[in-house]
Amino acid sequence: MSTLAIQGCQWGDEGKGKVTDYYASKADIVVRSQGGNNAGHSIVHKGKRYALRLLPSGVFNPNAINILADNVVINPWDLIGEIDNLHNLGIKDFKILVSSRAPILMPYHLVLDRAREQALSKNKIGTTLRGIGPCYEDVVSRIGLRFGDLLDLDALKVRLEGVLEIKNLELKAFGQEGFSVEELYPKLIEISKYFSPLIIDTTAYLTKAIKEGKKILFEGAQGAMLDNIHGTFPYVTSSSPLATAIPLNTGMPLDCVNNIIGIVKAYTTRVGEGPFPSEIENEELAHKIRETGHEYGTVTKRPRRIGWLDIPQLRYVHSISGVTHVAFMLLDVLSSVDEIKLCVSYSLNGKEIDYMPSTVAQLSKVETKYITLPSWKEDISSCRKYEDLPLNARRYIEKVEELTGLKATIVSVGPDKEETIIREDIF
Ligand code: IMP
Repeated sequence: MSTLAIQGCQWGDEGKGKVTDYYASKADIVVRSQGGNNAGHSIVHKGKRYALRLLPSGVFNPNAINILADNVVINPWDLIGEIDNLHNLGIKDFKILVSSRAPILMPYHLVLDRAREQALSKNKIGTTLRGIGPCYEDVVSRIGLRFGDLLDLDALKVRLEGVLEIKNLELKAFGQEGFSVEELYPKLIEISKYFSPLIIDTTAYLTKAIKEGKKILFEGAQGAMLDNIHGTFPYVTSSSPLATAIPLNTGMPLDCVNNIIGIVKAYTTRVGEGPFPSEIENEELAHKIRETGHEYGTVTKRPRRIGWLDIPQLRYVHSISGVTHVAFMLLDVLSSVDEIKLCVSYSLNGKEIDYMPSTVAQLSKVETKYITLPSWKEDISSCRKYEDLPLNARRYIEKVEELTGLKATIVSVGPDKEETIIREDIF
């Protein structure tokens, strides 16, 4: 069995798209298991940049089967739009399957996401407003609709009637208009026609694939610090981006993942609200890195907040997820700065701590200690072997490896597929 999981190790947007695309080109099956169209993979394929939201990156490999597994919240209308858009751009030859257990993200989830953020006002989470949280809430409160429901339209109608009784109460509480069965049921019938032939039982499908020795890539979305239990709660997403959640999110046994490659950007970014210990306060410098790294949200276009690489944060993520390898991304962006800072420890109330505080109140009070390393100030985009990198770039990587205990298996020196140093073949 050869399976590999890809996991973002910071607050998302680490450059997972490029690594996923690389491994997806070698995979038989590419599986996404959580999140929804809040995610945005930016992939440069044959010199053109594509932004994927729900579709797994295996769409660029005509031999791969792409699966949206059990805990991916799917806005079916957006997914159809994304598929049509790719077709229009000439990417037509891809196969997609959807789990019968995947939650359907409905129009009222979008209304509720916006209404909640408005009600929270200055305490808002800064969500992508794609309805992700409200859709997951319906899973947990056991009233959500799932793709499997589309296979029996009579039963679906009864379920929809029950669901709307609750949802309309909620919408009313937020001063929003309710939805009627007459409005939504015909829309679901259309969706059912489109998706019925694509709906599978993920457990049965993947169990068979593993028996047949297929190569399976589990593609992650978001990043570990957005995990809804272990991240910077409440400024997190509503699912678990950790590779350790893959078995649950796909209906597979604990040992279904052989290796986990953690995606780490050479600096740190985050979008939305919430504490960010190693954030760069010098706006001129942050702006320079943001512009060089094109650090704007793939989905929302919001400017990303910029920070230095944070070793205590990475150590924490290593502990909670057990990543086995690292892909070190966007190293070329740091060629633009004069010197690089590396956050090496946290203190709280004057005492050094060896953990990541779990509350916003404590995390906001954390004091960060830095070491400074020289940059290399030269174009590294043509380096293809580790030894080609300037000495100061290697020193930076090796310092991070020493402090985290993780080896950089991949080093990315530019956005294109070719602009990559592969130090070990793990899939
Ligand atoms: P939600 O997932 O739309 O509910 O947003 C919750 C938080 O997660 C917000 O801070 C978002 O900006 C963040 N978030 C969600 N998806 C991504 C992603 O793919 N990359 C980076 N941040 C994300």
